[in-house]
Amino acid sequence: MKVLNFGSLNYDHVYEVDHFVLPKETMSSLSYSRGFGGKGLNQSIALKKAGLDVYHAGRVGYDGQDFIDYLNSFGVNTAYLVKDPQNASGHARIEVCNAENRIVLYGGTNQLIGEEQINDTLDHFEKGDVLLLQNEISCMKELITAAHEKGMYIAFNTAPMNDAVFTYPLSLIDLFIVNEIEGAGLAGVKSEKIEEIIAGLQKRYPETEIVLTVGAQGSYYIHGKTVIHQDAYPVKAVDTTAAGDTFSGFFLASYLSDKDVKKALDLASRAASITVQGKGAASSIPWMEDLK
Ligand SMILES: Nc1ncnc2c1ncn2[C@@H]1O[C@H](COP(=O)(O)OP(=O)(O)O)[C@@H](O)[C@H]1O
Ligand SMILES: [Mg+2]
Repeated sequence: MKVLNFGSLNYDHVYEVDHFVLPKETMSSLSYSRGFGGKGLNQSIALKKAGLDVYHAGRVGYDGQDFIDYLNSFGVNTAYLVKDPQNASGHARIEVCNAENRIVLYGGTNQLIGEEQINDTLDHFEKGDVLLLQNEISCMKELITAAHEKGMYIAFNTAPMNDAVFTYPLSLIDLFIVNEIEGAGLAGVKSEKIEEIIAGLQKRYPETEIVLTVGAQGSYYIHGKTVIHQDAYPVKAVDTTAAGDTFSGFFLASYLSDKDVKKALDLASRAASITVQGKGAASSIPWMEDLK
């Protein structure tokens, strides 16, 4: 069984400022740093740290070599990551002022993935292999359809949740992984109440496996009438960035190995509780060895 994560990669350009830049103003920033982001990138690193051999497929631009080096430094396989010399990689320009931020996001090469690239990539995978998806790349509909035709097991984290999700062939998804916001959106439920979100998901997707994470309130596995709850590990959270990505990676690694839902929920919660105690994204995700 091979695991393919077809997903986004973004450079985060972070500028610390004493006020947000105004129209006509040119302003110096107080500091600059560049980070690696994109849900796809974080989830590939989580899958790898959870002990799976993962292939990250996607598209980077002329400025994209650093993504490849970064993923490789964790041991993520980038054989199917395409470098596009004509275009810029996905990136975010983030102004940070007094713990508030202002962000301009450019999808770049994440949004230039087309059918040819999808077919070339899926040629290397077969029935029984696993595909993980997030909602930050182009051509999702074609990708889901082609992977399903191959007989791949498809897990879809519908973040960021938007109306485009409903244009995808959702009946072909085997496992949804959502937090409460994505879960409510997917269920078409206005309420923030967890019971109502679960009921909405059960009604709309009675045959699909669903993992719903609800921050410090833990997580649920839902499949038809089956609902299994797992408490979060009580810890002092410092930065919850990548909590959901850690959860996805460790849940999949455990669940795919023996289909034991309770064990997978517990392991994923333990791993995510470590991530929230550290600052940053990929660097705060633990390795499987650290959990033993
Ligand atoms: N404050 C916290 N304390 C302990 N565990 C947490 C905390 N926040 C998140 N987690 C763990 O991480 C999982 C995913 O977090 P969640 O916030 O639901 O995902 P997302 O990052 O996608 O919004 C939770 O189900 C829980 O196990
Ligand atoms: Mg959350």
